[in-house]
Amino acid sequence: MSFDFDHIIDRKPTHSFKWDKYQGQDVIPMWVADAEFKPPQAVIDAIKERTEHGILGYTLPYDELNQSVVDWVAKQHNWHILPDWIVWTPGVVPAFNVACKAYCEPGDKVLIQVPNYPPLLKAPSLNQCERVDIPSVLIDGRWQLDLVELEKQAADPKCKLFIMCNPMNPCGSVMTEQELKQVAEICLRHNVLLCSDEIHCDLILEEGVKHIPAPALPEIEGRAISLMAPSKTFNIAGLGASFAIIPDSRVRMQFRNAALGIVPWVQVLGLVATEAAFNHGHDWHKALIEYLRQNRDYLYQEINSLKGMKLTKADATFLAWIDCSELGVEDVQSFFENAGVGPSPGRDFGEPEYARINFACSRTQLIEAVERIKKAHAQLSL
Ligand SMILES: Cc1ncc(COP(=O)(O)O)c(C=O)c1O
Repeated sequence: MSFDFDHIIDRKPTHSFKWDKYQGQDVIPMWVADAEFKPPQAVIDAIKERTEHGILGYTLPYDELNQSVVDWVAKQHNWHILPDWIVWTPGVVPAFNVACKAYCEPGDKVLIQVPNYPPLLKAPSLNQCERVDIPSVLIDGRWQLDLVELEKQAADPKCKLFIMCNPMNPCGSVMTEQELKQVAEICLRHNVLLCSDEIHCDLILEEGVKHIPAPALPEIEGRAISLMAPSKTFNIAGLGASFAIIPDSRVRMQFRNAALGIVPWVQVLGLVATEAAFNHGHDWHKALIEYLRQNRDYLYQEINSLKGMKLTKADATFLAWIDCSELGVEDVQSFFENAGVGPSPGRDFGEPEYARINFACSRTQLIEAVERIKKAHAQLSL
């Protein structure tokens, strides 16, 4: 079956967050992590069918929906969960903020891997907690969590929670089983709850790399939660549907209680879209991964051919984390924007010398962006 990821859809008239930023400017937006692709037809059809029914009242997550999650997670990650473990949330951002409320008291410390997705960096302070940064280090061409620092910081009895991002945004690594086991041991040794943001886990591009959901490790099943969603993979982020998977009933109850009265239910179209994506999106998903892999490889080659720019090949995600520290420009973001390309500013992730380019777009758009970057690069005196 073939799917047309080359097809260009004009999003300018849709109040798109990504496209509105550079309205009226000749800048290709390649920042916010949504894609330029239409979801699988089954997803569009499910939404159409539900809206044509006409009544869009309060809707509870239903058995067939939870089963679609159980089946998807089993097929993709060989993790056999129970439907009861699933707690629906209208986004992963609310979920990791709920985790801070659920497992910490004001004044406690929350460990956060850096660099990281900006709302994740803000979660501790939004919940009256102190953020403790655990760096990611580049070893032999691969971004890895600094486990020595994790052990050191987790030993502080004020540390109650570690929110990690696996696969890593923005660095793109997927933790190995050995790394994950070490993280689990550290968390268990110091009684730190492990909250793993796994929103990018269905975007594994590197062949042979496997994502392991944190609570799938038996040793930490009772002290870990996984946050997942169909939103990045199937490009339905605007529908606000995601879920936490929490095997331990007490940990789950704490999470549910912290969300009460603040976090709304997932809206009906998000639920039906998720069910359709997980039940009928397998072929589309396979084709997407192949397309993204080629985009990644093309970008990797082109960016690394430019003096002063370095790009590590990401195992997963559609995000390229580009080191521009040797580019010799005063402001990395301005360099790209003046070139006519709008990445996410590295400074928002904690690293001003970097830029993050979202390559979930047509090859035509990606080539145009690369040509613009090359042209601006040629003007630099390096
Ligand atoms: C690591 C990570 N977590 C969460 C989100 C967003 O979550 P949501 O839109 O479901 O709140 C993103 C979006 O880019 C992300 O990269």
